[in-house]
Order: sequence, then structure tokens, then C-alpha cells
Amino acid sequence: MSFKNDHPNPLHSSILPDGPIGVFDSGLGGLWVLSRLALRLPHESFIFFADSSSCPYGSRTRASVLELSRRNVDFLLERGAKAIVIACNTATAASVRRLRKEYAVPIIGMEPAVKKASAETRTGKIGVLATAGTFEGEHYRETSRKYAAHHSLITRIGEGLVELVEQNQVDTEKARKLIAEYVRPMLDAQVDQIVLGCTHYPFFTEHIRSMAGPGITIQDPSDAVSRRTEEVLRSHGLLRTETTPGRLQFFTSGESGPLVSMASCLFSGPIQADSVFLPPASPCSDSDHSAAR
Ligand code: DGL
Repeated sequence: MSFKNDHPNPLHSSILPDGPIGVFDSGLGGLWVLSRLALRLPHESFIFFADSSSCPYGSRTRASVLELSRRNVDFLLERGAKAIVIACNTATAASVRRLRKEYAVPIIGMEPAVKKASAETRTGKIGVLATAGTFEGEHYRETSRKYAAHHSLITRIGEGLVELVEQNQVDTEKARKLIAEYVRPMLDAQVDQIVLGCTHYPFFTEHIRSMAGPGITIQDPSDAVSRRTEEVLRSHGLLRTETTPGRLQFFTSGESGPLVSMASCLFSGPIQADSVFLPPASPCSDSDHSAAR
């Protein structure tokens, strides 16, 4: 069955409110977003896909991330997803606009929390930690232009942080050192807001908090994305009406062990994850770079 949006009907007729919500990330970071979604929508079922074998997405070309995102969406739709949450800022930046045109299901992406930080800052200085792919995306640039034109943005690419989450090395000296390297210049510049622009970064919140102290607001967009998901499902009549608890299913293109141990910290009950093979993204030529822009 094809869900490609090549007909004027905005929603595919086979989408049913009882179906699960498909959620994907380049890896394990999206589990945090999933935990916020499940808290807000306890009667919904979710299928989570971590593309850990292709992680990190942040250093890939936009064309490659778009190709991987399409493949992830297809995987989730084949398993009956009624909507897609892209729990990855980098994949959102590279693909959300295109995917919304191509697929006849609601697609929700990550929102950079720069807008909220801009409304709440007192010092006019905002730190933003994200991947190279997110900083290069139109979404981030437009939001910054629109909402933070009169503020200073102190930006840092969180090089190496995604890998630490994937290797279950969040609580390590190496992680603390990297966080210090990225956050110290922000604090020196007197930011009062630090925006987490990658879904892997909330796992470092404690490290950031212990460096920054209580006066700094750490902005994580996951709750806003959960609220938005609820609104979108409601507006399409796709919220589940049953009041029994929803089911969680986990898949990864990498080893299942790290996913199971991370998910066990966030969700109650036994966690089972299936490792699946999905074709890798094809190598990109220079023309592919512009194709996705
Ligand atoms: N969780 C992804 C994001 O939000 C990580 C990106 C990566 O894989 O580099 O951007």
C-alpha cells in the first residue's frame, strides 16, 4: 500500500485512530522525546525506530539525511503508523518540508526552542547547542531571524555528544569535559538560556545544570512537540478513543542492547527491542547537496 501523497486527498484513507504513532531518530536521543509523548498521550501506542547504524546524522549531507528519513517513514508506515514524529532536529531540518509534501499522513517535526528562549531571556544572550546539520537548516535560520534578531546567539556544535549517548557514556568524565568545553563560553557570555537543539542532549541536562547553576533556563522542546502532536492528532480526528494503555514497540538498525538499557531507564515494564536491517543511504554526489535544499 502506498502512502505517497500523489493525490489531492490530504490524509490516506487507511489511517485509523487506533494505529500507533511512529517516532524516529538517528539514534537513542529520540527516546527522550518518546518518553514525553507517552506521558502526555498515555492511551496512544507508539513504534519507535532508532537509526543507530547510520548515526550520527549531524555530519551527513542534507540529501543523505532526507533519504534516510524517507526510508524511516516508510518503515514506520509499513507497521501501521497513523502519524510520524521526527524526534531528531537534524532530520527535521533536512526533511520535514519535503516529507509533508510527499506523504499523506500528519508529520510533526522538532521545533528549535529559540523562540521560547527569546521570549524568556532577560540578558538578551542565548546559548544554542546543536548539530552542524541543524544550524545549517532553514528552520533554525528562519526561527533565529524571526525571533532572536535583537538577541545574541552563542552557538556551539555539540561535536561528540551524540556518540557518547549512543555508547551509553553519559555519566563519564569525558562527557563532563565536553559539556564544559561547549557550555563555558556560553556562561562567560552571560547567557541566561541554553537551548538544547538536538534530542540526544537532554541526557546531559544534569551536567549542564551543575555547571550553569539554577539561574539558567535549559530549553528542551520535547514537551512542546508532545503538545503539538496532540493538537495535530486531534485536528485530524486521529486521537485514540480507547482508554486502555497504549503499547510501545522498539526497533533499531543497530544493536538492540543499548536501546533496551536506555529505554529501561525511561519506561516501566520489560522492554524488548528488535534489531532490523534497513538499506544504508546511498553515497552522495555534489549535486545531491543542492537537491535537498
Ligand atoms: N538526535 C539528533 C538530533 O536531534 C542527533 C543528530 C545526529 O545524529 O547527529 O539532531
